[in-house]
Amino acid sequence: MAKTYKIAVIAGDGTGPEVVREGVKVLNVAAAKGGFKLDLVNFDFGGARYLKTGEALPDSASAEMKKFDAIYLGAIGHPDVKPGILEKGILLRLRFELDQYINLRPVHLYPGVETPLKDKGPKDIDYVVVRENSGDVYTGVGGIMMKGTPHEVAVQNMIYSRAQVDRCLRWAFNYTRKCGKKARGVGPDNTLALVGKTNVLTYVFDLWERAFHEMGQKDFPDIKREYYHVDATCMWMVKSPEWFDVIVTANLFGDIITDLAAITQGGLGIAAGGNLNPEGVSMFEPMGGSAPKYTGKNVINPLAAICAGMMMLEHVGEEKAARAIEKAVMDVTGTKLKSLAAGRMGYSTTEVGDLVAERV
Ligand code: IPM
Ligand code: MN
Repeated sequence: MAKTYKIAVIAGDGTGPEVVREGVKVLNVAAAKGGFKLDLVNFDFGGARYLKTGEALPDSASAEMKKFDAIYLGAIGHPDVKPGILEKGILLRLRFELDQYINLRPVHLYPGVETPLKDKGPKDIDYVVVRENSGDVYTGVGGIMMKGTPHEVAVQNMIYSRAQVDRCLRWAFNYTRKCGKKARGVGPDNTLALVGKTNVLTYVFDLWERAFHEMGQKDFPDIKREYYHVDATCMWMVKSPEWFDVIVTANLFGDIITDLAAITQGGLGIAAGGNLNPEGVSMFEPMGGSAPKYTGKNVINPLAAICAGMMMLEHVGEEKAARAIEKAVMDVTGTKLKSLAAGRMGYSTTEVGDLVAERV
C-alpha cells in the first residue's frame, strides 16, 4: 500500500489560499510521481475566523495538529486585526505549543532570479540559516509598569537555557554534517557559523559560545566552526555571501538576518521556511505575508509556498520528490519568469503553479 502522509493545511488570510492552492497542486503531482499519498485536512485559522469568533486559535488546536505528519501554512495576517494578535495568537502559539524549536531557512539564489547583490550568482548565494525558534525575547517574559506616565518602564527579556541552546546546536551540527557544502560537494568543508553578539550580550552569548565550542570539540570535530557578530554578519551577507555554509543563531537575530537573506535570494516570492520539531510535528510556510492588496487577483507568486511544500516533503522523508520540485522550480525561474514580483511574473499565480507541476 502506498505510504500516506497526513497534512494539516492552514491556508490562512489574504493571498494565503491562492498560493497554498498552487502548492497543493504541485505536491499532489509530486506524490503521484513518487508513489505516495497526501491526506490533506483544511483548518480555517486566520484573521477572518478571529473576526468572526473573537478567538485566534481554539485551545484544541495544537492537540489536533499533533495527529498530523506536518502542517502546511499559507499566510496569517488581516488588515482589520491589530498587529500582534494573530502573530502571537496563531503563528507563535503553534510554534511554542508544538515546540518547533528550529526555524530552518535555506538561502539559495535560483537560476534567472535577480538579486540586489552586485556580481553575485547562484554559486555565491547558497547557505542555510538555522534560527533557534523557542527562546530569546520571543518567550514574552517581561512587562510594563507605570504605563502612560513619564516614568513608564518596559522590560522584555532575552532568555536562554543551556538545554534550549544545546538542542538547537546539536541539530545544527548534525544538519551541517549531512547538508553542509562539503557534504553537497560544493565546498571544501562543512562549516557551522555561530552568529551572536558576544561583545555586548555577555551573558546570553557567553552561554551560546561555550556550548557551541564544547559540543563541536567533543562530538563534531569534523565540522569547521566559525563565529561572527550579528552586525558584521549583515555586512558579510551582502558583501561575501559565499563565505557562509550553515549559520546557527538565536531567535531574534535569526528573524532579522533571514529577512536580509531572503531579499538576496529574490525576496518573499521565493523564500520559504520550516518550523521544525525534530521529534514532533513541523510546520512549513512561505516567508511572505498575506499581501491583502493582491488578494484574489491571481497575480501573487506561489513559488515560496511551493518551496515550503518541497521542504515539507524533504522533512517527512520524500527526498526524491522534494528534489524533483526544486528542479522544476529552478527550471521555471531560469527559463520562464520575467520577475518574481507579484503582477510582473509574465504569468498568473495559477499559471506559475501549472508550469512547476508540468515539470515535476
Ligand atoms: C517570521 C515572522 C514572525 C517572527 C512574526 C510574524 C511573528 O517575522 O516568521 O520570521 O517574528 O518570527
Ligand atoms: Mn521574520
